[in-house]
Amino acid sequence: MSSNVPCHICAAPVQEFFDFGRQPLSDAFLPADADLGQEFFFRLAVGVCESCTMVQLMEEVPRNRMFHEAYPYHSSGSAYMREHFENLAKQLLSTELTADDPFIVELGCNDGVMLNVIAGHGVRHLGVEPSGGVADVAAAKGVRVRKSFFEESVAKEILAADGQADVVYAANTLCHIPYMDSILAGVRTLLKPTGVFVFEDPYLGDIVERTSFDQIYDEHFFFFTARSVQEMARRNGLELVDVERLSVHGGEVRYHLAPAGRRSPSEAVAALVAEEERRDLAGLGTLREFGDKVMKIREDLTALLEKLRAEGRTVVGYGATAKSATVTNLCGIGPDLVPFICDTTPAKQGRLSPGTHIPVKEPSAFSGDYPDYALLFAWNHAEEIMAKEQGFREAGGKWILYVPDVHVV
Ligand code: SAH
Ligand code: TYD
Repeated sequence: MSSNVPCHICAAPVQEFFDFGRQPLSDAFLPADADLGQEFFFRLAVGVCESCTMVQLMEEVPRNRMFHEAYPYHSSGSAYMREHFENLAKQLLSTELTADDPFIVELGCNDGVMLNVIAGHGVRHLGVEPSGGVADVAAAKGVRVRKSFFEESVAKEILAADGQADVVYAANTLCHIPYMDSILAGVRTLLKPTGVFVFEDPYLGDIVERTSFDQIYDEHFFFFTARSVQEMARRNGLELVDVERLSVHGGEVRYHLAPAGRRSPSEAVAALVAEEERRDLAGLGTLREFGDKVMKIREDLTALLEKLRAEGRTVVGYGATAKSATVTNLCGIGPDLVPFICDTTPAKQGRLSPGTHIPVKEPSAFSGDYPDYALLFAWNHAEEIMAKEQGFREAGGKWILYVPDVHVV
């Protein structure tokens, strides 16, 4: 299948390789009395650029529809992620933030999960966060936040007010932003010549290896590789100088970009690019095979849920993740198969899941009366959740996972 959509990085044609069909906004949990006829849908499909190899969505959702006052995702909801960001903050404090009066800017600081550690050390910082509700939570923790979308014009205003930055940082945010030229121009404007832009996002290599297709939804616009990030950096006066593999969120890479020619790239960069080439990671053959595996998971998961229903077993969803929107909508999983999903986020509780309208309830609805099976939508937090929910296992409960394939544990 070919298409005329131009690449958001280099404008060459993007070749579509998988179509998820009509999908809702992954974080648009509906009030119980919502007019369901008004729900917003778009075509979720992914493709790969013929030239720079960047994997990206074929259609863009307007940013104000996704990121607004009521954006429900709170980064601090996982103890494991709080620790991850505390470690990262400490790493930056002891490496890149050691100059006199250092300054760090974070794009998409959310509820301040990382910057509150920086603020606690009295280091000059600014979070740029368009979603007002989570930005207020960060501010209440003592984090300095500017409520706006980061882009080049905002970078110029920050520069005028605060001066150049030693570090610009973004976690699980850069991949959300289709207007990359403006972002990278802004980063270049802000960074000191000796500065560094560090960002971490889900890694295409892990998504393909684990068939974690639910990482693909409205908010995740780009699926980075070392090779595509290298090209994206080069086109914008930056250079990929280091990469670190991370285990969080099902496998990520932390990329370090410096102004071109300022730092020598580490061996890890060349090694990861070579590994990607060996795997033909951005090859259409590889990506279409990934699509075939997604269809197999869809078939197996619906068959399992239908079988359990026929046997009279109870199944509850665990974690009303953004990822779960892709799974439930692709597989047609509604309240008839999964009567509710439990989740710790107050802003999601009492609401209906996007597109499939499964009620979201408090975790007490799960532990109060354990089901026979729990479908783990928050599989990236499996260790933390299974440790917390040992009682479920002890009561004979079983977890259903669908990544890398459908299995019961
Ligand atoms: N960094 C946090 C939050 C990730 S969610 C974490 O890793 O857990 C992505 C965040 O990016 C959201 O809070 C969203 O509001 C924000 N965001 C989206 N577009 C942005 C932009 N152009 N500039 C800054 N933040 C943006
Ligand atoms: P997450 O997988 O981090 O991200 P996304 O929404 O981008 O797919 O979301 C985790 C969700 O799971 C979030 O809504 C909070 C919920 N959750 C629980 O209900 N219990 C838990 O113990 C944890 C760690 C998360």
